[in-house]
Order: sequence, then C-alpha cells, then structure tokens
Amino acid sequence: MDAHKPTVNENIREMRRLKQKAKTGGGKERIEKQHKQGKLTARERIDLLLDANSFIELDPFIVHRCSDFGMAERKILGDGVVTGYGTIDGRLVYVFSQDFTIFGGSLGEMFAKKVCKLMDLAMKTGAPVIGLNDSGGARIQEGVASLAGYGDIFFKNVLASGVIPQISAIMGPCAGGAVYSPAMTDFIIMVKDTSHMFITGPEVIKTVLGQELDFEELGGALIHMQTSGVCHFMTESEQECTELIKRLLSYLPSNNMDDPPIEETGDDPNRTDDSLEEVIPDDPDKPYDIKEIIASVIDNSDFLEVQPLWAPNIVVGFARLNGRSVGIVANQPKYFAGALDVNSSTKAARFIRFCDTFNIPIITFEDVPGFLPGIDQEHGGIIRHGSKLLFAYCEATVPKITVIVRKAYGGAYDVMGSKHSGADINYAWPSAEIAVMGPAGAINIIFRKELAKATDPKKRRKELTIEYRKKFSNPYIAAEKGYIDDVIEPSQTRPKLISALEMLVTKRESRPSKKHPNIPL
Ligand code: HXC
Repeated sequence: MDAHKPTVNENIREMRRLKQKAKTGGGKERIEKQHKQGKLTARERIDLLLDANSFIELDPFIVHRCSDFGMAERKILGDGVVTGYGTIDGRLVYVFSQDFTIFGGSLGEMFAKKVCKLMDLAMKTGAPVIGLNDSGGARIQEGVASLAGYGDIFFKNVLASGVIPQISAIMGPCAGGAVYSPAMTDFIIMVKDTSHMFITGPEVIKTVLGQELDFEELGGALIHMQTSGVCHFMTESEQECTELIKRLLSYLPSNNMDDPPIEETGDDPNRTDDSLEEVIPDDPDKPYDIKEIIASVIDNSDFLEVQPLWAPNIVVGFARLNGRSVGIVANQPKYFAGALDVNSSTKAARFIRFCDTFNIPIITFEDVPGFLPGIDQEHGGIIRHGSKLLFAYCEATVPKITVIVRKAYGGAYDVMGSKHSGADINYAWPSAEIAVMGPAGAINIIFRKELAKATDPKKRRKELTIEYRKKFSNPYIAAEKGYIDDVIEPSQTRPKLISALEMLVTKRESRPSKKHPNIPL
C-alpha cells in the first residue's frame, strides 16, 4: 500500500473536518459579535426558516480566487454565503444566506457564482428563492470581479422575475450592490433596528454633502416602510421575519405555471355580515376604515397587508376567500379621503402586477373621490404614476372582481378595476356614488353662470347639490348600462365574492402577442 495515500476512513474524516470548518464561518469571535448585535448567524437563520432537517447545502467548499491585499492567505470555506435548498411547509424553496462573519458578507466573484447557480436551479425547477441578506456590498478587494458578480445576480433576478417568487429578507446592514438585488425581487422584509439599506452610507454622504445622518435615519426599517416605500414588511425580530416569509409563501404558487395553494380555512363561504350595513357613514364626506370591510369579508379576517405604512390611502395585501388566495386592493377613506396620489398608484400597480404574474385573483374595494388635486401631485408626475395603476389593471388577466362601496368618481372610477379596465364582475353597494366628479366641483363648473346670476346663490347651490346627488349619488345609472353587474346587499358581499371567484376559476384571457408592454415607469 502507498504510504502517502490516505485510507478511505481518513478521506471521510478529512471531508467531515472541512465541512465542520465551513460551519464555523468567520470564527468564534465574529459569531459572538453577531449575536451581541442581536443578529443570528447565516446558518441559524436557515434553521429558523426551513422545515426541520430539510436543508441541503450546496457548494460548502467554494473559496474566492483573489490574491490582492493579503487575500490569498484569507480563504474561508463557503466564501461568505450559505446556499442550498429545503422545504417550507413541505414545499421546495431555495435559500441563500449571507454570512456577515466572513468578510462582512461582502460579495465577490465566487460568492456570486454560488447565488447564480442556486437561482438557475430555482428557475429550472420552478421554486421560490429566498435571500437572507446581511452584507457590506461589493467586496472591495476583488474590484471589478465583485461588480461583475453583482451584475450577474441582477441579470438572474430579472430572468427569474415573474417566473418564481423572489423574497428578500434584510437582516443586517445592506449597502451598495447589496440593496439592488433585493430591490429587483418581489418583496423586501426588514428587521427593525438591526437592518439598514442604503446605496451610499453615512460616511460618503458626510464627505460629499456635508450632511450628518446615522444609519437608522438614512436607511432603517421604519424609513423604508414609511417614507421610501422600498420595504414591504417590517418585523420586530429575525424570528418574526422568518415566520412572515413562511406566511407570505403560503399565499403564493411556487412558480408562474402553478396555481396558489388552496388552504382549508374553516370559514363558512355563505357567511353573511349584517354589520356591513352600518359601515358606510350617513355623511358622504365622513371617513371610515376600509379594513373593517376587508376583515369582515375574507376568511377568518386573516389579512396580510403589504406596505401598510407607505401610501396608506390605498390598502393592498393577501387574503383567502373560501381557502383561495386573493390579492386585495382597496381605497382607504381614512387617509386623503381615499384619493389616489403618486405613491398609492405606484404601490397598487406593483401589487396588481405581482398578483397577475402569479395567478392570484384581484379583489377591489372601491371608495375613491378621484385623484388627489394639487401642484405637488401634478408636478410630481401624477399623470405618469396614476397611469401605472390604470395600466396594471388593464394588463392583468387574472380574475378581477370589484365592489364599489361608496365613491367612484372621475378617472379613478375607470382606474380602480372598472368594467372598462377588464374586470370580470363588478358589484356595487346601494351606497355607491358614480359620477364624473363630486357635487361641489360639478356644480361650480356646469352651473357657474346660473349661480352668478342667482338672487340667492347659496340657496340655489343647495338645491342644485340635492338634484345632482339624486341623479348621480347611486349605482343605478351605471347598472342600467351594464357597467355594474348587480347592486348587492352589503351583508352578502362575502358569498357573492366567493361565488364569483369560483365561477372565474377557469378564466382564460390573453392579450395580443408582444415582447412586453411598455408600462409608464
Ligand atoms: C470587503 C468588507 C466590506 C466590503 C465590510 N467588510 N464591508 N470587506 N468589502 N464591502 C468587512 C470589514 O473589513 C470587516 O472585516 C468586516 O467586514 C465587518 O465590517 P465592520 O466595518 O467591522 O462592521 P460594522 O462596523 O458592523 O459595519 C458594517 C458596514 C461597514 C456598515 C457594512 O463595514 C461598511 O460601511 N462597509 C462598506 C459598505 C459599502 O460602502 N459598500 C458599498 C460597496 S460598493 P474584518 O476582517 O475586520 O472582520 C458596491 C457597489 C456595487 O457595493 C454596485 C453594483 C451595482
């Protein structure tokens, strides 16, 4: 026997030793630092996310190929990212988890290759990719090789978009390139206090602009939830974040060729709710909470709201109706009277496009006085942004069901899932008001001359308002023309929606063949 050739057992022991070494990441000290900061390690996060013992790791032996800046002596197995596949609720998912203990989770050439390999597998097999992000961005020592690596991931993000769900959890600092890839995925979840996202950090901002900002002010979870609209969900802890990913996935199909899973919810599809008759205030200008209607109608009031703190004048999120996943879009009269503005249009348009891509029917609850007027909106591009929402509704071929609960005025009537934008079933409550504009604006325009001449303009305005309301503040003119399929009892909304949804299950609709439509961005 060759004295230098290791025995079979020695080979196995060596493999085990290397694998064990790979599991220690950047070492004990850095792991302790990670824990002290209230963060879990890359592997601990995977364990929390996936079904027990389901994780199969790929590429644990990968190391970088950089020799500059002393990197030749600093090769760490895995190279800063743990990749592999496993299951959530028994369904296949792919996961990559960036390891901040190795070069700050920074991305180099080989790190990127691992992620790209995973994304290729995910696209071939039609299963979601979940990225657990905790990274200092492009690995500085690797120069253009890291930029190329990011570029390759961005390209895969785009290829995978609309094919498989892509979910990004931000669980630490994410800077530079580390934010662009999440930005191109479907959903971003940030953990409060421990996660940050920015393109250029506080140091650069101080140097270039002389502004002093801390990490939280610049790119904390709350800022991205409330102000920038970058983040879709915010959680209190990493545990809550992984639970949220599981909940989100439960509404989604694994790929664009599948239907979303149907879940037994135990909620009676024929359940009615008389309290819905009391939701709409007698005063048409009084606000109320549209979420009361949503909660009453959906299964077990279980609503996963997306971007709850940004553009709250529109509510979007996932729910179930008789166990089937639906995407809810609803004007929220509590904010700006439910008017559409730049941000709410963008928010709802993106949500609708996601639902359409992944075969999730869209249910719209409409109470919209129109587009928000004003110079801020006009100069902010409401024409461009508002048209995104109209475009998204028209483009969507999934089942679309709309219920007008109160106001449906002006262009916003057309936009919000009207019959004319291709909705399949349009219902209205008896409280619906459908017209070109509200009474005050309309009377000023069409009766301006008459009011100027009137002996008692105040009295005449009141009379005209009553007349206008009588004529337009109801759903029957639209129903006469077939734009509304029926006027329904509010209490019956749930069974009506479920019946329509079941009827539409086999819906097939196509659009003219083209490379892709040109949504106004
Ligand atoms: C290489 C990096 C790194 C990076 C951090 N590290 N970022 N190594 N490339 N980009 C290393 C540190 O050297 C350190 O190594 C370890 O990670 C932990 O970093 P610390 O700074 O000690 O941690 P902390 O104080 O928590 O600060 C984390 C941080 C900070 C906020 C992320 O490290 C930072 O600002 N990094 C740079 C962020 C950045 O500007 N990235 C943009 C890159 S440009 P040791 O060995 O000491 O543990 C980019 C463009 C891509 O991404 C564009 C594509 C379109």
